[in-house]
Amino acid sequence: MILSPQVLFIFSLSPFVACQNYENVSNLHDTLLQNYKTDIRPLNNQSEIMIINLTLILFGIPDVDQVRGAVSYIAQLQTEWFDDRMTWTPSDHGGITDILLLSQDVWTPPIAIGNPIKMTKLGEKWMQVTYLPDGHAIFAPGDVVECSCSFYLKFWPFDKQLCQLSLFTFGYPINKLTLNVPGVIANTRFYSPNGEWALDKNSITFSYDYTYGITIVRYYFRLTRQSLFYLFTIILPINAIGALTSLVFLLPSASGERASYSITILLALAVFLTVISEDLPKTSDPIPIMCVFILFGVMISVAGLVIVIFNLILYHRDDKIPISSGYRSIVMLTRTKLCRKRNNQDEVQPISYNFNDKENKKNSYKGNTISRRNDKNLSPEVVVQNNDNSLDQPEAEITWKDVSVAVDRVTIIVMLFVAHIPSVIIIIYVAAASDFPPPTGFE
Ligand SMILES: *[C@@H]1O[C@H](CO)[C@@H](O)[C@H](O)[C@H]1NC(C)=O
Ligand SMILES: *[C@@H]1O[C@H](CO)[C@@H](O)[C@H](O)[C@H]1NC(C)=O
Ligand SMILES: *[C@@H]1O[C@H](CO)[C@@H](O)[C@H](O)[C@H]1NC(C)=O
Repeated sequence: MILSPQVLFIFSLSPFVACQNYENVSNLHDTLLQNYKTDIRPLNNQSEIMIINLTLILFGIPDVDQVRGAVSYIAQLQTEWFDDRMTWTPSDHGGITDILLLSQDVWTPPIAIGNPIKMTKLGEKWMQVTYLPDGHAIFAPGDVVECSCSFYLKFWPFDKQLCQLSLFTFGYPINKLTLNVPGVIANTRFYSPNGEWALDKNSITFSYDYTYGITIVRYYFRLTRQSLFYLFTIILPINAIGALTSLVFLLPSASGERASYSITILLALAVFLTVISEDLPKTSDPIPIMCVFILFGVMISVAGLVIVIFNLILYHRDDKIPISSGYRSIVMLTRTKLCRKRNNQDEVQPISYNFNDKENKKNSYKGNTISRRNDKNLSPEVVVQNNDNSLDQPEAEITWKDVSVAVDRVTIIVMLFVAHIPSVIIIIYVAAASDFPPPTGFE
């Protein structure tokens, strides 16, 4: 049993312990319980409303189960009230300033959990109630209670949840018994943190609800999922596997490894998804954005495989088949935009060292006029111009292998963007847009 600080404080308060003996306490016990009825509110004026003061002491939130929609709280509810029947004068009873009575022998407020997974009334028969001479009663039942919580998983794993613990007076209507939360809403001094969920201790709020003719007190807890674990074990690995997909286009088509490489990556992704499936939220309303992200990762791998196979067909196509203008323009695009620099480097060297041979060769098959200069004076501009000229009329040189290489180059660049930029945008959006849902009514 958990002892609240206030109860401990009261125990240490008794200054007259020395003067009391067993008879004195036994006498007081019998006097107090004479004609005491445990099921009648202990008020001399039965038309008055009985007020129960509540203080919640939260020790921990050990289990948050989004699949069942359940949250466990280790909590103690300190209830205080005035019992008109439990008053005595200490000097008449050997200076006794407090007495503990079993809760089954006295009246205690019937407080039940309003949103339980399993019907729970707080307080057990063996728990004790402390009474002070003026009738001030303190009863602090503690328990591990499991409450329902509707999880909003759209922004998983960056989600923030608002879960409640609601308490109500079982049986007694509002004009007989009412709950009151004075001072501190929830005492979290003894709270032990949960590794997966961070509780914002300063944002615990409560509200009264009288809609059902009874008093309901709802405590709201703001829980934020610690997403780093999921970032490192699910999101980044999926992104890394997606990055591997784009590397397939660096393998030479002739190696014959491409299709098997792509399929291996797809299999790796499938195995990985099987392993992590337990951690994924199983909800469709609304669908978590991260599930779309995972689908996107799978689609990238599938698209990579399809393009690889398509590209192998191009690579092995007979050069007698004419190349359509669409493919030609892809080749042109890669040669002009991406490869100009490399062509320069390739050709500057031979020209400067072996000017005459090169010049002759070029003239012989292109009929191109090259400015007659000494090799020492050959400027880069001349070389660039030569290349541009050669690109204007290379129709005959393009083979299906060139087309395949060009498609590779275009795909790898497109892949690098498509595989990463949307992922980064999705992750940033999910992390930034996530917020606590508004407090809801009775669940
Ligand atoms: C009992 O309480 C009611 C409501 O507070 C009050 O109107 C009434 O006067 C009280 N009766 C006595 C005898 O004090
Ligand atoms: C309950 O709290 C109120 C303040 O809201 C206080 O006046 C009253 O004495 C408290 N009752 C008990 C039993 O502590
Ligand atoms: C408390 O007990 C002692 C010893 O039995 C007795 O002398 C004393 O009168 C008792 N006090 C009261 C107030 O009953």
